[in-house]
Amino acid sequence: MGGRFLLAQISDTHIRADDNGEAAAKLKKALAQASEYRVDAILLTGDLVNDERTEEYEALARALLDPPAPLYLMPGNHDERTRLRYFFPSHTYLPHTGLLSYAIEDFPVRVVVVDQIVPGETHGLLTEAGAAWLDRTLSAAPDKPTIVALHHPPFLTHDLLFDKIGLLDSDLLSHVIAKHRQVIRIICGHHHRVAFGQIAHAPVIVAPSTSWVYGIAMYPEQPIAPRTDEQTGWMLHAWTQSGGCASHFIGL
Ligand SMILES: [Fe+2]
Repeated sequence: MGGRFLLAQISDTHIRADDNGEAAAKLKKALAQASEYRVDAILLTGDLVNDERTEEYEALARALLDPPAPLYLMPGNHDERTRLRYFFPSHTYLPHTGLLSYAIEDFPVRVVVVDQIVPGETHGLLTEAGAAWLDRTLSAAPDKPTIVALHHPPFLTHDLLFDKIGLLDSDLLSHVIAKHRQVIRIICGHHHRVAFGQIAHAPVIVAPSTSWVYGIAMYPEQPIAPRTDEQTGWMLHAWTQSGGCASHFIGL
């Protein structure tokens, strides 16, 4: 491990019970590709299942039975915290109550996962309490390179739909991140397409979905969130002590 860290970020898997295993097969392909890259860790950045249904979480658990590296989960707006805890009892890093926010400390890069979903809503929200937790957590290791993971993009992508259903209070996040220079990346999902932005000093990368890609609508006459035939995939974040961080799109 030493001065290198490879993180597979797999997002918006949207596992379903009625798609003949199609979404699960794509997740398994992403895991197989991650194995080829000998990643150190795998993080699924939310929308793990499509409808919060028991059969979907069971199918997800089956697909994740034998991951090629330590695997971490976080919720998106299609997930339910209680069910995540219930179906993944061996994931002891998940807090037993409250938000599913936590820090991964086992690697040369720290990964701080922020649960900012709002039950029943499509948008995300960082509460004052959530921001205080993030500030405290980042303050605990000011000198260790850190990736902060969310589900909802915290910047405007200029898409007519997703700008309404992203992280609504990104100024609060920006205020916290600005105090912590060790944050080298913010990574998220939700948009089902690759996009780049910035919060304070930190580059933000939106990972694609493994299941489907949304087009963008910048004008009222354009279709909102059309599914396109662009390539699905995941992100490989590669860091070395001397070379910094690079983020690669890996197509499925
Ligand atoms: Fe999604």
